[in-house]
Amino acid sequence: MNSLPIEFSSVDQPSRTSLTGKVLLGLTGGAALGLSVVCASFVSPAFRKFCLPYIPATRNQITNVFTALRGRQGTLLDVGSGDGRIVLEAAKCGFVAHGVELNFWLVLYSRLNSLRKSLSKKTTFYRKDLWSFHVGDYDNIVIFGVEQMMAALENKFNTECKNGCIVVACRFPLPNRKPFKTFGHGVDTVWAYEIIKTK
Ligand SMILES: C[S@@+](CC[C@H](N)C(=O)[O-])C[C@H]1O[C@@H](n2cnc3c(N)ncnc32)[C@H](O)[C@@H]1O
Repeated sequence: MNSLPIEFSSVDQPSRTSLTGKVLLGLTGGAALGLSVVCASFVSPAFRKFCLPYIPATRNQITNVFTALRGRQGTLLDVGSGDGRIVLEAAKCGFVAHGVELNFWLVLYSRLNSLRKSLSKKTTFYRKDLWSFHVGDYDNIVIFGVEQMMAALENKFNTECKNGCIVVACRFPLPNRKPFKTFGHGVDTVWAYEIIKTK
């Protein structure tokens, strides 16, 4: 009985990925890498001592902040400025408005947005860690923090803030100070404090 020869066609064949395939592979890989780099900036707060994630202030919260600051002027700092919405609103209200934020992409977005809204001359965004950023030169400070960090922040404000500085805390109050006024309710509540130094 005769048997037919068998050919093994898959052995030693050169790869035949088309140019389009290679371009698509490159683009997909590049996009995945880019996405991972951007996401890393948003995930990294989870690995810090105090995890302060990016949660933008609501419209009601912003209204409450600027109701608390009615009649105030001078410089304002938003501690952990996110996408810059508080800083931009402050600039519109006439403050010299600064933000300090660790996330590179949020700082970049804030700067571009302030350029787009022609507010860049009244705003400055620092890409820095809030814990090593000196807050003593500001007349007004806004903080939207998390409960676990408020005591440490209060110590920082007690040590660094100048006499007469107004601190507006959003969503979570400073644990040991008495606010002179509270605005709004629920998650949009803000507490306003005056830092008074006795000497
Ligand atoms: C709750 S969000 C508030 C954003 C903004 N202030 C607002 O009200 O829309 C807190 C922000 O603090 C930033 N952040 C977290 N840890 C920080 C740190 N150590 N230094 C500076 N910014 C920080 C986060 O990236 C996030 O954008």
